[in-house]
Amino acid sequence: MKSILFGLVGVLLMGCQQNPPSNNTTNESNIDQKVEELLSKMTLEEKIGQMNQYSGFMDFTGPQPDKGRAANKLEHIKNGLVGSMLNVHGVENVRAVQKIAVEESRLGIPLIFGFDVIHGYKTISPIPLAEAASWDLEAMKRSAEIAAEEASAAGINWTFAPMVDISRDARWGRVMEGAGEDPYLGSQIAKARVNGFQGDDLSATHTVAATAKHFAAYGFAEAGREYNTVDIGTSTLYNVVFPPFRASIEADVKTFMSAFNVLNGIPATGDEFLLRDILKDKWDFNGFVVTDWDSAGEMVAHGFVKDGRAAAKQAVIAGSDMDMESYHYIEELKALVEDGEVEEKLIDDSVRRILKVKFELGLFEDPYKYCSEEREKETLYNAKFREGVRDMAKKSIVLLKNKNELLPLKSSGQRIAVIGALANDKTSPLGSWRIGADEETAVTVLEGLEKYDQNTYSYSKGADVVTGETSFTQELNINTTDKSGFAEAVSTAKSAHVVIMVLGEHGLQSGEGRSRTRIDLPGVQQELLEEVYKVNKNIVLVLQNGRPLALPWADEHIPAIVEAWQLGTESGNAIAEVLYGDYNPSGKLPMSFPRHVGQVPIYYNQKSTGRPFLPSPGEVFWSHYTDEKNSPLYPFGYGLSYTTFDLKDLTVENTYADDGTVTVSVSLTNTGKRKGKSTVQLYIRDEYASVTRPVRELKSFEQAELEAGESRKITFQLTDKDLGFYDNNGKFTVEEGSFQVFVGEDSQAQLSGEFQL
Ligand code: NOJ
Repeated sequence: MKSILFGLVGVLLMGCQQNPPSNNTTNESNIDQKVEELLSKMTLEEKIGQMNQYSGFMDFTGPQPDKGRAANKLEHIKNGLVGSMLNVHGVENVRAVQKIAVEESRLGIPLIFGFDVIHGYKTISPIPLAEAASWDLEAMKRSAEIAAEEASAAGINWTFAPMVDISRDARWGRVMEGAGEDPYLGSQIAKARVNGFQGDDLSATHTVAATAKHFAAYGFAEAGREYNTVDIGTSTLYNVVFPPFRASIEADVKTFMSAFNVLNGIPATGDEFLLRDILKDKWDFNGFVVTDWDSAGEMVAHGFVKDGRAAAKQAVIAGSDMDMESYHYIEELKALVEDGEVEEKLIDDSVRRILKVKFELGLFEDPYKYCSEEREKETLYNAKFREGVRDMAKKSIVLLKNKNELLPLKSSGQRIAVIGALANDKTSPLGSWRIGADEETAVTVLEGLEKYDQNTYSYSKGADVVTGETSFTQELNINTTDKSGFAEAVSTAKSAHVVIMVLGEHGLQSGEGRSRTRIDLPGVQQELLEEVYKVNKNIVLVLQNGRPLALPWADEHIPAIVEAWQLGTESGNAIAEVLYGDYNPSGKLPMSFPRHVGQVPIYYNQKSTGRPFLPSPGEVFWSHYTDEKNSPLYPFGYGLSYTTFDLKDLTVENTYADDGTVTVSVSLTNTGKRKGKSTVQLYIRDEYASVTRPVRELKSFEQAELEAGESRKITFQLTDKDLGFYDNNGKFTVEEGSFQVFVGEDSQAQLSGEFQL
């Protein structure tokens, strides 16, 4: 594919060269004025061109368009009919395409190059869900900075991240790309990531424009099935879905991406309420909105509009500024304006927004500013990035169980059996959505362990997770029934002091288009685990997965369980450091882990029903399942450490009437024998309100690293923004009444107090 594009580039570069009037822009500060000047020179066609985004031919991140259309792309750039390209990366490629826009189109307006830099470009950080488990906002910001620095050195100036969709459904494959189930944590993380990508100065060469996506409610696809209908209530929309988007705007995010789904019967891309009333009017967002891949066109399939022309019209009226890969803007908008069906002022508004971001990036001053071959060479895979992603990886690991202190491992004199295909897989730890990365570039668990200490290791695969070719765009073959490796695995395990079993999902088993109905260990891995357990009970189960899994058997039988997600390039090194206790695990789950898939969607901040949630002996009329508990296997916010912490002396000082604050403090003590980090979480319950409130809501958290025996007072301040909520008209309100407050190390915290507003 690459050659098709660049063969054409060569031909097109022979075209005539014009003087781009706006490219000589000096450092004048008034971007708005520059935008107006440029806009006044543009023809209607050129304006619509700015609203058109095409995918290059290097990677496909959506269904492939038909070839006839694809062939015109470079010609369109030359004719000023393209404002942005996605999926063109690498300095040589970006420069070649940019050159056409800048030197051959009439106005020479530079293209903005978008790419899915989701958790790294070449050097890969943990998947976003794993990073969220760190609850470490600085580390996540740093991870986004690394991604921006590396990607921008390869010509990219716009990332389609962060995904800020809240989701409560582990069946949905894209939970790996978000920050989990909680709107408060999700909002803090959204800000950290936007700040990391965009930095303090968007025009610097090492920063990129970010995208808050997918607006809105994509994470609530019914039954977790990808692209499915969303039908949620207003209260959830305002209080759960919107907050991380709002937070992204507070962090000055430059772009939004609309969602594929319908929300209450309206496709998000054509939803005037979402894009215009809420985003652009109420929230005053002044960046631009890009559609998702052909989501404008998909409004036809949704049964919302009759054809491409109607789709273009509806999307523009709703507020979608740039069209990704549907072709309907470029094919239909001109006639729609000329026929009086779309007002030109809407086009102008979109173009202003797009040009503004291009000016802010500094593309008019130097359209090739991200195109230094030298910088690219020095930057990609730079060792300093490895350190950063390794730090992020360690912090993302969650210790789920550690009976009899099987962990940390003794550093010498041990025979250790390492079992599982994932233990030796150099690609899976990269996870999904890392399309710029090179395959086989992750450090495996086996590699990480072998170079770490003096123990003796023997490896046995046991069983595959998937079979055959694996690729981002192709369905995986999950029919793995082959147990022929079991015997060897069992015999390897028999003579070992400790068995490390690395089980879970293939790296591409989560992500877009990867919904699952079963959220257990895929293939025959569960059977493998049970067979090995029969001969050696000293098992450390290291999980690699892109979503919460339901593993009740493992929880009951396996003494030590480590949630290691997909941790990116430095995966094996980070895992070894944690298993040997040189890093004391501190991660906390950003999503509830169910006991059974039938409990999904399961989330801690649920509403109370009218009936009891806990068993009433002998009663049947309470809110429950007859065959499973209500509680999750591991709750939101949960994660162990090699040390232990105690929280006590909760006090509430209510000075709300005087200064609008409620101050909650607790005393935290490290009661174990090692230094460790605790994430102290504060939850509230508004006991009654004009719209019912969740049984618990996270409102603050603080991380504290304490030496063994050390104590520290932790203080939280709650104000209106924590105590109020959005009513069903979207109005933020703080109501009088009784509140409970809980402080602890997970969402089931017992230490509590109360106050009145
Ligand atoms: C589809 C995905 O939903 C979106 O998140 C991504 O950014 C675009 N494709 C572009 O690759």
